[in-house]
Amino acid sequence: MTLRVAVVGCGLIGSRRAKEASQHPRTSLALVADVDEDRRTQLATRYACLPVAQWKEAIDNPAVDVVVASTPNRYTAEIAVAALAAGKHVLVEKPPGRNLVEARQLAEAARKAGRVLKIGFNHRYHPAIDRAYRLYSDGAIGGMINIRARYGHGGRPGYEKEWRGDQALAGGGELTDQGVHIADLIQWFGGVPCEAFAFLQTAVWPIQPLEDNAFGLFRYRNGSIASVHTTWTQWKNLFSFEVHGQLGSLCIEGLGGSYGPERLLRAIRNPAGGVPTVNEESFDGPDLSWQLEWDDFVHAVDEGRTYRGTPEEGVGAMAMIDALYRSARSGVLVRLSEATA
Ligand SMILES: NC(=O)c1ccc[n+]([C@@H]2O[C@H](COP(=O)([O-])OP(=O)(O)OC[C@H]3O[C@@H](n4cnc5c(N)ncnc54)[C@H](O)[C@@H]3O)[C@@H](O)[C@H]2O)c1
Repeated sequence: MTLRVAVVGCGLIGSRRAKEASQHPRTSLALVADVDEDRRTQLATRYACLPVAQWKEAIDNPAVDVVVASTPNRYTAEIAVAALAAGKHVLVEKPPGRNLVEARQLAEAARKAGRVLKIGFNHRYHPAIDRAYRLYSDGAIGGMINIRARYGHGGRPGYEKEWRGDQALAGGGELTDQGVHIADLIQWFGGVPCEAFAFLQTAVWPIQPLEDNAFGLFRYRNGSIASVHTTWTQWKNLFSFEVHGQLGSLCIEGLGGSYGPERLLRAIRNPAGGVPTVNEESFDGPDLSWQLEWDDFVHAVDEGRTYRGTPEEGVGAMAMIDALYRSARSGVLVRLSEATA
């Protein structure tokens, strides 16, 4: 029997999830839920499934095995916790809740329910990032010295009026929005760091008390460092994630589309000094991260396989974000053990 899926929230990301759920051989799209009638009707018509207005109808429906929570952040944790309690498997979009408290509630609900809860950290499935991770894990660049990450776009007119500009709906600003992907990638490569320091700006978009720019630093017990800049004033979209090791470096540029071609630059240090050995790979195809992520989720549900984006990784990434906010507010270095306590 196929797994019957409900997608709650029929916006940009809900539409992507609906497409994957309807195309995967092991899943079928049973229903879509959205408070916006046009959106739910359009998606339901496209995939010939049931449209409902209230997310509770999706959770209560016995003909649903899997719930995707793809609403604004205000509702995702609440929907996911209720769905888990009702015995459904859940894919919840990033960020896992609006803050660390909600991320922990999600993890606790998954533990109690004994169901799969996957956090939508789709960047882990981008081909250049996936390849870099495999090379790094195989020791290609030796021990990590530092990570330098930058991620941003330039918003759009009226951005401050969208849900991302509203603290109650979003939780945080750009640090929570795109920054959580970066925090997740840092923890994937290096684990959760132990110290954090940050400065925030609200430079252009009138979204106070939210930030449109965040500069953060993390440090590990062994002295390794990771730096982060996430921004909604990056007028030409940018994604850059560099991992520097004792033997070489792995630099990812672009995510395809408006972020430019996705490339992985591998430089292996010349022990004699001078020019390193450089290898460049380009990944020009369509963005398959959503498809690969869905497949990973389905295998986890079907076979109990390990997967990327566990509830604990959700807590780890949100603890990192939380530590940066705490540092920015207090003006001092924050220990993550304090932030996560
Ligand atoms: N993985 C990624 O790279 C990525 C990218 C963008 C967004 N996201 C995440 O996906 C989620 C959705 O973002 P989006 O860009 O698709 O937003 P969106 O605004 O395009 O869509 C949200 C939809 O949810 C609906 N909605 C609002 N309140 C609801 C409720 N109470 N019940 C049911 N539906 C409701 C809205 O009507 C809208 O159709 C967010 O959590 C966001 O952070 C992830």
